[in-house]
Amino acid sequence: DSQYSLRPQTLDEFIGQGRVKKQLRIHIEAAKSRGQALAHILFVSPPGLGKTTLARIVANEMGSSFKSAVGPAMERLDIATLLTNLEERAIFFIDEIHRMKGYVQESMYPAMEDYKIDLPIGQGPAADIITVPLAHFTLVGATTREGLLGGPFRDRFGNRIHLDYYSPEEIQIAINRLSERLQPSVKIEEDAEYELARRSRGTMRIAENMLRKVRDYATVESDGIITYEIAQEALDFFEIDELGLDDNDRTYLRTMIEKFRGRAGLKAMAVAVSEDERTIEEVYEPYLIKLGFLTLTPMGRVATDAAYQHLGYPTPEYQSTLF
Ligand code: ADE
Repeated sequence: DSQYSLRPQTLDEFIGQGRVKKQLRIHIEAAKSRGQALAHILFVSPPGLGKTTLARIVANEMGSSFKSAVGPAMERLDIATLLTNLEERAIFFIDEIHRMKGYVQESMYPAMEDYKIDLPIGQGPAADIITVPLAHFTLVGATTREGLLGGPFRDRFGNRIHLDYYSPEEIQIAINRLSERLQPSVKIEEDAEYELARRSRGTMRIAENMLRKVRDYATVESDGIITYEIAQEALDFFEIDELGLDDNDRTYLRTMIEKFRGRAGLKAMAVAVSEDERTIEEVYEPYLIKLGFLTLTPMGRVATDAAYQHLGYPTPEYQSTLF
């Protein structure tokens, strides 16, 4: 399947995030009517909620070209090369922008503010600086961790936009559309769509992957049609539980409960589950926090009573005294 054609191309096709779409429509219409570039945009959300998709849509709706880069890999000179080659009103998208090195972030200040960059010419004591004018472009940054951006860098984004988890109803619409667009199309019953949607952790990317996995299951274990029963069976088979938690999520909570009596620091958890700290903070924890299974305290991460109950542990007595 062409990954790209499955993505919505316009704001109208983009499901949910109503307030965000309204905001973007206003900025896009205003910029177009003035014939100007959009103000720089920072999209903030947990992974898989559509930051990259929205950035492409913004370019499409502006009628602008789209160039992209990934934060951690960028050096000053890479950025300079990309910036000096942008077209007027281009959208320049940088993913994981919080992982861009500090001095590279700083080198972008004049580009963002005045559409110019300072480039070193030559080396050593004889080195000189020339200032190069740039096209009026729009920087669109995506981050899972707004707090890790330097303050002055963050403040240079005129529009900071937070995306929220999707409702099951919104995800169901996306699953329905995707089932028709996949080649060959997927036959899925309405209550099965809702079941997948409900267990997708509010995340479009998870829903999409889940539909593909369950389609495979239905093809091999049944007649290819995803009924409610087949959906249930497949999700059990793939060990995705009633709330959409997978094996990684459950291992994380079990480890916290069994090894650390329900309270642990980030480093200790990272070592215990063999994951890097970033993945834990950016991928595992946000949805567990949203579910109310985890709280972050100055004394460490704490598994809540609800987490104990969900995993079938007796609620610990000592915990109630902590809050
Ligand atoms: N693909 C990723 N996010 C989407 C959304 N919000 N609506 C439709 N398709 C999507």
